[in-house]
Amino acid sequence: MTIQQIVPGSTIGILGGGQLGRMTALAAAELGYACVILTPEPDAPAAQVSALTILADYGDEAALAKFAAAVDVVTLEFENVPAEAVQFLESLGKPVRPGSRVLAVAQDRVAEKDFVRKLGGGTAPYEPVDTLKALIPALERMGRPAVLKTRRMGYDGRGQRILQHRDNPVEAWDAIGGKPAILEGFVKFNREISVIVARGVDGATRAYVPVENRHKDHILSETIAPAPISRHLADQAEALAARIAHALELVGLLAVEMFVTDDGRILVNELAPRPHNSGHWTIDACLVSQFEQLVRAVCGLPLGSPERHADAVMTNLLGNDAYRWPEFIKEPGARLHLYGKSEARPGRKMGHVTRVIPRTDRR
Ligand SMILES: Nc1ncnc2c1ncn2[C@@H]1O[C@H](COP(=O)(O)OP(=O)(O)O)[C@@H](O)[C@H]1O
Ligand SMILES: [Mg+2]
Repeated sequence: MTIQQIVPGSTIGILGGGQLGRMTALAAAELGYACVILTPEPDAPAAQVSALTILADYGDEAALAKFAAAVDVVTLEFENVPAEAVQFLESLGKPVRPGSRVLAVAQDRVAEKDFVRKLGGGTAPYEPVDTLKALIPALERMGRPAVLKTRRMGYDGRGQRILQHRDNPVEAWDAIGGKPAILEGFVKFNREISVIVARGVDGATRAYVPVENRHKDHILSETIAPAPISRHLADQAEALAARIAHALELVGLLAVEMFVTDDGRILVNELAPRPHNSGHWTIDACLVSQFEQLVRAVCGLPLGSPERHADAVMTNLLGNDAYRWPEFIKEPGARLHLYGKSEARPGRKMGHVTRVIPRTDRR
């Protein structure tokens, strides 16, 4: 198969303007590509480091057409871009990587879990719940504690509620906005891990080592690379991530969030077909970062080595944490990343610090 390469000097379009787009644009620049951002948000972190920004809603077809005309390939940093926008770009003949088929699965928590189950992967027990009326019997079947999440658009714990024994399901239903939802059994996990796998136009895959993720208030707080798990479990997690990427025919990056149970089972929690917060450590501790890997994948270049030259701990700077930058910038072994966001709202991802640690094993 001959692969049409999008060579250095070309332009990559990125849907979404957040920090994931910003770090993708920075990595693209290192390989000689320019980036054009389409985002509805003024002063977006990615716009600050890109050649051109089109400030428009994803539903604005004139803006999408202008965007398509300015770029050679389109990728995304935000998987909730409306499917119609992606289909419209595809109809103009622009490659969108990953494309609308992948998004259809990853935008819907029920479709996502159905997809994983069909491949033989494990998930928490779950049931779609479209109405408040359906929630009550579903909760009886599931038992408590359970987790109620909107099917679509949730992130950083938004759009979800845990239902403990005394909690009122009507309140939980209202709290998530009374939208079509998924009810999940609560997993008593031993730890949370994730695998980021890249898949190229030629179908080749390369995975980063599984990492452990620690959350505070449902927001990622810390990533530990590598995850302190057995070789056997790590191999299983990587193989599962690659299997999902192949089945999706993904071109780009796929982050697979997983729970590890006490009895050593892996349950898939969530799929994200884009760079992922749990992969930020790869900028400082791997030969090729997740962001460069995404650029390579969508441009049809050979994938790079995901090998790490150091272990790492990545800590998110949320809200006011960012004001502690003078401490981090002088800390030996630490690398500070700030996203250029002017307003430090509570829980907002403002930057991160990666502490690199000499490698202790040769996995
Ligand atoms: N079924 C579950 N059982 C136990 N904990 C859960 C469950 N679902 C989510 N969580 C916790 O909430 C966090 C956020 O949920 P997630 O489904 O990843 O949504 P998002 O990251 O999109 O907000 C997870 O990382 C995990 O810590
Ligand atoms: Mg998640």
